[in-house]
Amino acid sequence: MSIDPSNRTVLITGASRGIGASTARLLAERGARIAINYREKARRAELVANGITDSGGDAFAVRADITDPAAVAAMTATVSERFGKLDVLVLNASGGMERDVDPGYALRLNRDAQVALVEACLPFMPAGARIVFVTSHQAHFVDERPTMAAYEPVARSKRAGEDALRERIGMLRERGVDLVVVSGDMIEGTITATLLDRAQPGAIEARREAAGHLVTVHEFADEVANAVTIEAESGHTIYVGGADYLP
Ligand SMILES: NC(=O)c1ccc[n+]([C@@H]2O[C@H](COP(=O)([O-])OP(=O)(O)OC[C@H]3O[C@@H](n4cnc5c(N)ncnc54)[C@H](OP(=O)(O)O)[C@@H]3O)[C@@H](O)[C@H]2O)c1
Repeated sequence: MSIDPSNRTVLITGASRGIGASTARLLAERGARIAINYREKARRAELVANGITDSGGDAFAVRADITDPAAVAAMTATVSERFGKLDVLVLNASGGMERDVDPGYALRLNRDAQVALVEACLPFMPAGARIVFVTSHQAHFVDERPTMAAYEPVARSKRAGEDALRERIGMLRERGVDLVVVSGDMIEGTITATLLDRAQPGAIEARREAAGHLVTVHEFADEVANAVTIEAESGHTIYVGGADYLP
């Protein structure tokens, strides 16, 4: 059993590139209506949205640095006006390894902004709506398995974000909204994997050897898109790749 994605309204954060963009395209192909959030790369986000509308889908790009409360308020007003309601919020945007960010940024983005965005969207999420939180195995399992020093602050901030959302499962349930988490191993060809490999040369090859093979952006995005429609208990986690991480 799965939920019919047609005409479901979806806001995907960080959808101007990578996994978010690929998830947007897949969900649009399945008939969902997509709001493509981005932080600053307007041209890239417009290309993703135009690619979808040119193929007969329904999408638009909406700018907001999700750590900026005023920008989030403006974005949620736009999405609410355009869609009327929000059936699915995909919390995909993530960061903390960028150059020139202050030491508190990872936690502000990966925990505080995720919770604040949920709170901003809830007023127009109807019963039956869903939140999908996207994370990495290195973050999800950070308390059980050591990760690379360069990624540890980000991993801990993303785990803190996941925990903060899980703490809200009861409150969400009262509103008929559920939470599904998608956790993935290092993804082949992404900027994050490249940055990690630069910080710790050989990191990609080491993961490839440990896991057998690395998942591609398209394969991971397919699982994120599936998370929007599967029947699942609130709090369910979908694991993608990295079999050596799993119990
Ligand atoms: N890459 C991996 O190996 C891997 C593995 C497992 C899980 N994941 C998870 O998959 C998700 C996506 O990863 P990715 O590698 O595709 O990311 P990415 O290539 O780094 O893309 C980040 C996206 O987030 C946006 N963004 C960054 N900061 C933002 C902010 N403050 N406000 C709004 N948007 C912001 C960017 O927008 P702009 O382009 O406008 O800056 C961009 O669209 C993350 O949750 C990550 O933890 C990734």
